[in-house]
Amino acid sequence: MFLKKLFKRTAEKIDLQDIQAIMLRDRPLPYHGVNVFLEILDTVSAKAFLKEIVPYVTNAKNWWDNDDAWLAIAFTYEGLKKLGLPHSTMESFPDAFKKGMAAHSEKLMDINENAPEKWDAVFKTKGNHIAVSIFAKDMDDLNSKKVLALRVLKKHKGVKLRFQADFDTPIEGNFNHFGFRDGISNPEIEGSGAVQLNSKERPIKAGEFIMGYVNEAGNHYPMPQPMEFAKNGTFVIFRKYHSHVAAFNKYLIQQAKSKDEQELLAAKMVGRWRSGAPLNMCPFKDNAALGADTRKNNDFDFSNDQNGKLVPYSSHMRRMNPRDSKMAVMSDVNLHRIIRKGVGYGPVLPNGSTNDDGKERGLYFIAFSAKAMETLEFLQKEWVNNGNFVSLKNEKDPMIGLNEGKGTFTMPADPLPKRYIGMPTFNTLKGGMYLFMPGIRAIKWMSEA
Ligand code: HEM
Repeated sequence: MFLKKLFKRTAEKIDLQDIQAIMLRDRPLPYHGVNVFLEILDTVSAKAFLKEIVPYVTNAKNWWDNDDAWLAIAFTYEGLKKLGLPHSTMESFPDAFKKGMAAHSEKLMDINENAPEKWDAVFKTKGNHIAVSIFAKDMDDLNSKKVLALRVLKKHKGVKLRFQADFDTPIEGNFNHFGFRDGISNPEIEGSGAVQLNSKERPIKAGEFIMGYVNEAGNHYPMPQPMEFAKNGTFVIFRKYHSHVAAFNKYLIQQAKSKDEQELLAAKMVGRWRSGAPLNMCPFKDNAALGADTRKNNDFDFSNDQNGKLVPYSSHMRRMNPRDSKMAVMSDVNLHRIIRKGVGYGPVLPNGSTNDDGKERGLYFIAFSAKAMETLEFLQKEWVNNGNFVSLKNEKDPMIGLNEGKGTFTMPADPLPKRYIGMPTFNTLKGGMYLFMPGIRAIKWMSEA
């Protein structure tokens, strides 16, 4: 009892009113929204734009009180430079942020099919300076916020609309284009008030995700200077994935005879059934009620499955968060967590279709961390495109690995493991960037400095 008291982790008080809502709060469901990239042509005009837009940026304290739609804003390194931030501040950003995601493509294993040369034009050219995202619970709320933001934009001629892409919950219930419930598991952040209902995990120190707070190691990650500017900010990973749903459906049919076997293989590749029910809680067939139950569908570790016979070590979910798995290459799992707020885009392919209609559909992968660049490099290199950490040599993540028709997937089973081969890349990268999402006071300072 005495020891428990002595080592009790006290949560730091988090300044929710200064933190942008999108990082800490659940979006409306179903969600509707838009991602916009703006180019800064003139610094004075851009500052005036920021000054006018900042009152509409939604904070994490009273995110639904006054607002029917959220607005979030973030900046690329080039954007911050265009805003005329002091040289000492610009210099204090990490190198990977300064250079950008495309410049680090080798380190990220964004090569071949996923190489920057293959990205959409808007991500290949310079000029993405400010990113604005709006999330709303219905189209009316979205449209009124869009009208407002456009009115502000039109007044400031030194800021140009460069790219605008709508997004929507692909399938009601937060199912992604592959038909899997998405956005279930996120880390619980100490002191944030966002409870993730996993009794097996302890909350993670806020400093892993939000700048200016203590991290898991008991200190602060290096952050841009001055501290008042960085405090309550975070780095954002933005990646556009094109989902090859027809290829996924075709692969299941090629590899498994019956519909039940196909569903099992799909679930094994993800780690959950389509409903979201984790395989180690219902190994033999989907359980829709469990999948939909947010108090239960993430309340597990892998203590009942240390050999991976229920949830394969190679499945997307287990790779991305091995929880208490015994790994061949040891790693502190809590140091590689990210907050995910990805959104779907594009029309849904008819259920089970194996004909690619050529339309663009997929996921804008959006994630937050105080050391996002380092974390993404680690995940891409060690857990997504490599299998050594779970003794699977060069086997890659079946959902997001760069498999290119040569991928393998190992499914531990009795009496022998099953091995699937010839797996294509089911999600190709179409673009990406790193952004800095400041606290709300810092945006005001940027507009005035
Ligand atoms: C189009 C691409 C992607 C698809 C279709 C996809 C799909 C999914 C699904 C269905 C889940 C399980 C449900 C959930 O917990 O939310 C999941 C979990 C997860 N994914 Fe992805 N994902 C994609 C890209 C990525 C990327 C690029 C990363 C990171 C680099 C990532 C990291 C994670 C993490 C951390 C989890 C939670 C694991 C856990 O805590 O159990 N995903 N993803």
